[in-house]
Amino acid sequence: MRGHLAPSRLRATISAGLIRSTTPTIFRTATIATHRPSTKTTINPYVTFTSNIHTTTSKMSSTQISANAVLDLIKNRRTYYPLSKDLGSLTVERINEIVKEALQHVPSSFNSQSNRVVVLFGAEHDKLWDITSATLKAIVPEDAWASTEGRMAMFKGAAGTILFFEDETVVKGMQEKFALYADRFPGWATQSDAMLQHTLWVALEAEGLGANLQHYSPLIDAKVAETWSVPESWKLNAQLVFGGKTGDAGEKAFGAVEEKFKTFGSA
Ligand SMILES: Cc1cc2nc3c(=O)[nH]c(=O)nc-3n(C[C@H](O)[C@H](O)[C@H](O)COP(=O)(O)O)c2cc1C
Repeated sequence: MRGHLAPSRLRATISAGLIRSTTPTIFRTATIATHRPSTKTTINPYVTFTSNIHTTTSKMSSTQISANAVLDLIKNRRTYYPLSKDLGSLTVERINEIVKEALQHVPSSFNSQSNRVVVLFGAEHDKLWDITSATLKAIVPEDAWASTEGRMAMFKGAAGTILFFEDETVVKGMQEKFALYADRFPGWATQSDAMLQHTLWVALEAEGLGANLQHYSPLIDAKVAETWSVPESWKLNAQLVFGGKTGDAGEKAFGAVEEKFKTFGSA
């Protein structure tokens, strides 16, 4: 029975490296934490048992591509505006499939899975930017409106927008369950969401689309929730606008990597 393994069966499954059930993860991690061998010493039990999970699963799913292939995809991702409504050969179904895959596989603290997403295409995407435009019109000074209006029209001219949320119910649940880390969970949820944003930005770029990342929260939150029946507990973090590229990405400067990086030790 998927998702309802008995605790003993679940532990056996985990130790056999088969942690692929849909058993609610909060329960699963709690079980792992409770039944760790008492001989194992660690300062931070979370670090230890999380890394165990990763070890078992990574053995099962090794990929053959090199890091350079991944880095190439990462390097290719850029900010593009303006974007067109042309999705090329990509379908709405394919894009939704990509989003769902990323949503399922991007990591989250304790595998809490706090990320939530709404994808808007066509008229629904247009509606988002009409909402944002109307919201800003009410607060942007008259003399600054022309440039804001132009920006809104530019985003509306794209093909779609991915809305990224974190579910505060999940975050609160984790804080209650693991009180020791209570103050960390909000930050971890945002970090997991950022990983999802980056993953999808890279994935859309890999499919030939362009994208740019926007932040109109909390200004548009209430209207977004009302328009697309978003649960109250979903907190909007970012909007990834995507569509066909209409030109090149802008110049990008890089600070010296030596100022950002340190390494110690040898193999
Ligand atoms: C956390 C974060 C917030 C950002 N917010 C915005 C934003 O509100 N509007 C925007 O146009 N770009 C935003 N960007 C895009 C950055 O300006 C852009 O990624 C950066 O200048 C590097 O350019 P690149 O994306 O072409 O590599 C954001 C990027 C990150 C990572």
